[in-house]
Amino acid sequence: MKTLIAYYSRTGHNEQLAKQLHEQMPSDLDPIVDTKNREGMFGCVIAAMFKQKTPIRFAKDPRAYDQVIVVTPLWGGSLPPATRTYLTQNRAKLNQFAFLSICGKGEENKNALADVETTAQTKPFVSLLLKEAEVGNESSAQKLAAFTHQLPQQVLG
Ligand SMILES: Cc1cc2nc3c(=O)[nH]c(=O)nc-3n(C[C@H](O)[C@H](O)[C@H](O)COP(=O)(O)O)c2cc1C
Repeated sequence: MKTLIAYYSRTGHNEQLAKQLHEQMPSDLDPIVDTKNREGMFGCVIAAMFKQKTPIRFAKDPRAYDQVIVVTPLWGGSLPPATRTYLTQNRAKLNQFAFLSICGKGEENKNALADVETTAQTKPFVSLLLKEAEVGNESSAQKLAAFTHQLPQQVLG
């Protein structure tokens, strides 16, 4: 069972989570890089809300993996352009797909999961939206443990 953890992160929260998962399970890690400057918050929200795509870079071919865990923030209740582009470009290459996000409002963003499913043209077999302010606390750790528990056992080694 080969696992790829592909992540996008603007300010580091989702990167840290992706790296934490990577340490917990045999996997490859692949950062999704947005080649556009995303410093301005307003531009980020508009780009996400209008479902824009963007030129991205990533290194690993998802087709070579049994499952891909996509880790990303949400912006404007939607996918950041880099993650939207990644899911669109790779939708035919995802064997099994899990979705994980640290975002400001956690599960209050669950409408975004419909957008994830439409974009990837596959329903994630497991998904979790963690609230940024709660990351590291006990409830958040339990949710993350439940998420990883649902990944195929072989992945957990
Ligand atoms: C432009 C922008 C828009 C955001 N919109 C939302 C949102 O709609 N819902 C939400 O829960 N969090 C929202 N957030 C918060 C981020 O999802 C949150 O800060 C996340 O932890 C950032 O992840 P990162 O550090 O990996 O980039 C937004 C952040 C930014 C910068």
